Amino acid sequence: MRALSGIQPTGRFHWGNYFGAIRQYIELQDKADESFYFIANLHALTTVRDPAVLRQNTLDAAIDLLALGLDPGKATLFVQSDVPEVSELCWLLTTVTNMGLLERCHAYKDKKAKGLTADMGLFAYPVLMAADIIIYDSDVVPVGEDQNQHIEVARDLAGSFNHLFGETFVLPKAYILSDSAKVAGTDGEKMSKSYGNTIELFEPVKDVKKKVMRIQTDSRPVEESKDPDTDHLFQLYSLFATPEQTQVMAETYRKGGFGYGMVKKELAELAEQFFAEARERRAALESQPEHVRKILAAGAAKARKKASEVLLRAQTACGIR
Ligand code: ADP
Ligand code: TRP
Repeated sequence: MRALSGIQPTGRFHWGNYFGAIRQYIELQDKADESFYFIANLHALTTVRDPAVLRQNTLDAAIDLLALGLDPGKATLFVQSDVPEVSELCWLLTTVTNMGLLERCHAYKDKKAKGLTADMGLFAYPVLMAADIIIYDSDVVPVGEDQNQHIEVARDLAGSFNHLFGETFVLPKAYILSDSAKVAGTDGEKMSKSYGNTIELFEPVKDVKKKVMRIQTDSRPVEESKDPDTDHLFQLYSLFATPEQTQVMAETYRKGGFGYGMVKKELAELAEQFFAEARERRAALESQPEHVRKILAAGAAKARKKASEVLLRAQTACGIR
């Protein structure tokens, strides 16, 4: 079984990205026979328009993933645009893509509903994503619930191509990550770059503390009993705490007689310890960008080998070879 997933380098990774996606990619590198992870810089082009920022974000994303435990000895890590075969397969797939299918995809539909004009990149985004998946004969695609629709599109397009030109592509399946779209931001809404409510994984410890202390809470009196299950501060706490610590904190909530400030202080400390080793590894990797680039180049070479094999199959099937 080959697992494949991509993550966009649109900014620095935050707690939501880690618990909702990255942590689970890293767990899968031990479970899948083979795993491919890439940094989706071609996708990020629809939102990041500053070349220096895109370059830096791409390198930062690679350093973050390695620091967090992605092991190039187990998983293949590369940058999307280093495999140009993907762009050619993307064109082949557009020729079997129904416009209506793309009109129903949420990234485009949501933008249009807001009265904004979308560019062709955003409209065709699911086709590029399908090419990303199909070109490596991927069996399973770990993604958050929000991306499930795109995996369906990839299956659909692979199926249409196979129907027209004979069995060519593997039909991929989504592997929906638990906890995706669940991590709350500092305002209690879903943590997301677009909402400005994130806590980044590697921002300075003192900034993390400040943000944690500013997490919005309600103004109920200290002595009142509180329901931990509906409290976003408790939810964040439980991401970092051991099951025993979580249980003790849940009892404290139910009893009442505590201040949210105490919970925030403990949360900031736990989060600091949780990422301390990754932070050290990150600092070491940051000082050796050439080493990181070598890892990405080796990953791309391996990914290209598979991609050119699948592209050739597709070119032969449809008659351009
Ligand atoms: P953002 O919303 O900050 O732009 P992305 O959409 O780039 O983040 O997220 C990449 C992946 O990280 C998503 O597909 C999803 O699986 C995961 N993710 C993002 N935000 C959260 C969150 N708040 N809770 C859980 N998972 C999340
Ligand atoms: N669209 C995905 C996201 O925004 C990133 C992505 C691009 C991806 N290509 C992919 C994920 C292929 C899985 C497989 O999160």
